[in-house]
Amino acid sequence: MTYTDKDQQYKRYTITSALPYANGPVHIGHLAGVYVPADIYARYLRAQGEEVLFIGGSDEHGVPITIKARKEGCTPQDIVDRYHAIIRDSFKELGISFDIYSRTSSPEHHKTAAEYFTKLYNEGKFIEKTSLQYYDEEAQQFLADRYITGTCPHCGNEHAYGDQCEACGTSLNATDLINPKSALSGAKPVLKETKHWFLPLDQDEPWLRQWILEEHKGDWKTNVYGQCKSWIDAGLQPRAVTRDLDWGVKVPLTDADGKVLYVWFDAPIGYISFTKQLKGEDWEKWWKNDDTKLVHFIGKDNIVIHCIMFPSILHADGSYNLPANVPANKFLNLEGDKISTSRNWAVWLHAHLKDFPGKQDVLRYTLCSNAPETKDNDFTWKDFQLKNNSELVAILGNFVNRTMVLTHKFFGGKVPAQGTLGDLDRETIAEIATFPERIGRNIETYRFREALAEMMNLARLGNKYLTETEPWKLYKEDPARTATVLNVALQICANLAVLCAPFLPFTADKMHRIMNLQALGWKDAGRADLLMEGHQLAQAELLFEQIDDAAIEAQVNKLLETKRQNELNAWQPRSVKEKVSFDDFGKVDIRVGTVLECSKVPKADKLLQFKIDDGMGGRTIVSGIAKYYPEPEKLVGRQVCFIVNFEPRKLKGVVSEGMILSAEDKDGRLVLVSPSDMVTAGVNVG
Ligand code: MF3
Ligand code: ZN
Repeated sequence: MTYTDKDQQYKRYTITSALPYANGPVHIGHLAGVYVPADIYARYLRAQGEEVLFIGGSDEHGVPITIKARKEGCTPQDIVDRYHAIIRDSFKELGISFDIYSRTSSPEHHKTAAEYFTKLYNEGKFIEKTSLQYYDEEAQQFLADRYITGTCPHCGNEHAYGDQCEACGTSLNATDLINPKSALSGAKPVLKETKHWFLPLDQDEPWLRQWILEEHKGDWKTNVYGQCKSWIDAGLQPRAVTRDLDWGVKVPLTDADGKVLYVWFDAPIGYISFTKQLKGEDWEKWWKNDDTKLVHFIGKDNIVIHCIMFPSILHADGSYNLPANVPANKFLNLEGDKISTSRNWAVWLHAHLKDFPGKQDVLRYTLCSNAPETKDNDFTWKDFQLKNNSELVAILGNFVNRTMVLTHKFFGGKVPAQGTLGDLDRETIAEIATFPERIGRNIETYRFREALAEMMNLARLGNKYLTETEPWKLYKEDPARTATVLNVALQICANLAVLCAPFLPFTADKMHRIMNLQALGWKDAGRADLLMEGHQLAQAELLFEQIDDAAIEAQVNKLLETKRQNELNAWQPRSVKEKVSFDDFGKVDIRVGTVLECSKVPKADKLLQFKIDDGMGGRTIVSGIAKYYPEPEKLVGRQVCFIVNFEPRKLKGVVSEGMILSAEDKDGRLVLVSPSDMVTAGVNVG
């Protein structure tokens, strides 16, 4: 393999995928950005016969996990145990082929991360700095930025966090906040001295500049290169590698009580500790040999950590390889809106697998063909349906099925003789031969969408070939020609079984099964003799089935319900109207009355007609609350408040003498306002 000169030296591949935070399940944004492309890459290289190590695991430290634990009244360990299991199992079910999926709370990881720190510490690679940090005297602990709230100095939002204001999007320092408050105790935090260890990134600037901006110019993706360049050009600052927190890898020094390694320091070291877990003594060649290619798959929010911070950590040790590439993707949106865990605006993998059992490849296909490789992209349910019905079913599934069924019909499921080839057959066979390289080259240069499109082009070639040769009409007149055509079509099927495997592993397995095909490598593909004459095929099976409108509608409705919930959650009291005088208020005459009769106003679905005992002989009032009281007769006997001196109005033919008071809840529902105890009908409210 290997199509670029730079790759010639590589003998094995260490492929990492960003460690997802174990404070929630993974969603389609994670998958399209990181795990589906990484898995395609790993599967492809294995099919090429390369030595591959594909690493994943959960990132189980950091402040958001401790915050979630506090909110739910459990321990951080409970949180990570729950989500690690969900994430691990759902990745497995989607066929993400990690060689190891571990976790950063494991003792092995703590040991490796602590030893890494100690080595750099002993070699004098850190600088020590004392600074002032907010401290909660009641809770007796230093406060992470996220644990401090206060007023944003830019927009006045009173609920800004110590690291950022979510109202105006500005990133902040905790000391910028006006009226800071501890989220732990509510106390006003005080500034207190604390010591931390920093990686002097400023000193790394020269080699980083040379390595990224010179050596990887034109070879790393433009978005990745561009972000690195703007960071380096802005001037790198020393970065703290420790934090005051009680959840994480303890800082292995005697004077560091209550301090842990910063999650951004320990998490990427997870790639190394997981390698040790899997490979034991043999781990080093995956990280230190020149002929090992290290590739980090990440989303765009992780570029700085993987291109600058982690390389600096590796470089500080001195014995590690640096990444050869960091093919970061942009973000995937959902139905035109940014995916958000806190707003539950996401398609969660574990839920999706339940809703669409056995359709893992449909999701993999949709996400890969829509992957945000060069710009942010959108996932829509309509598109998911379309990709399945018009591409997987209509192109790939249809071609394979027609070929299988015809072979069974005419040749008892035995591969017929290739016989004498005509021009069209020879051209088709020549074209088959070009696909392995076309697809492979795209995968090796991280153009997974293009690679997938090429794979589908092979299925299109197959359909075109069948359309032009029409074997279903041919058999009676020319069985030998039919044999040739189906033989060639079957060779395309066999090639597809190999070439679709990195993208659609479940489908590839099924194709191998129905063709009764031995596992083949990438190097076998391209040939037109993968299935020999006389080879017995197994039963035909449909590769894909239609997804109907009802299934899609159910998903869209789920999202609409989420939108509704979010709007409710965002509810805030209206701002207060301008001041009124006591006299003005006194002009409105509000009374309590008892409901004598209540019924729907005929031909008006919104209106209820009340007969009220007002202590003055009774009156009729019409009110627009019918929707919220479907059984109006049940209101008889209830007391309500009403404005008695309202101008009478005619509503749908009924004269209404007053207005009944109701409160509007945040979802728009109206409820009657009543006194908390029975009072005499007709008394004043005021
Ligand atoms: N947990 C981080 C995120 O989800 C990614 C960590 S990647 C690692 O953004 F390299 F730091 F582990
Ligand atoms: Zn703000």
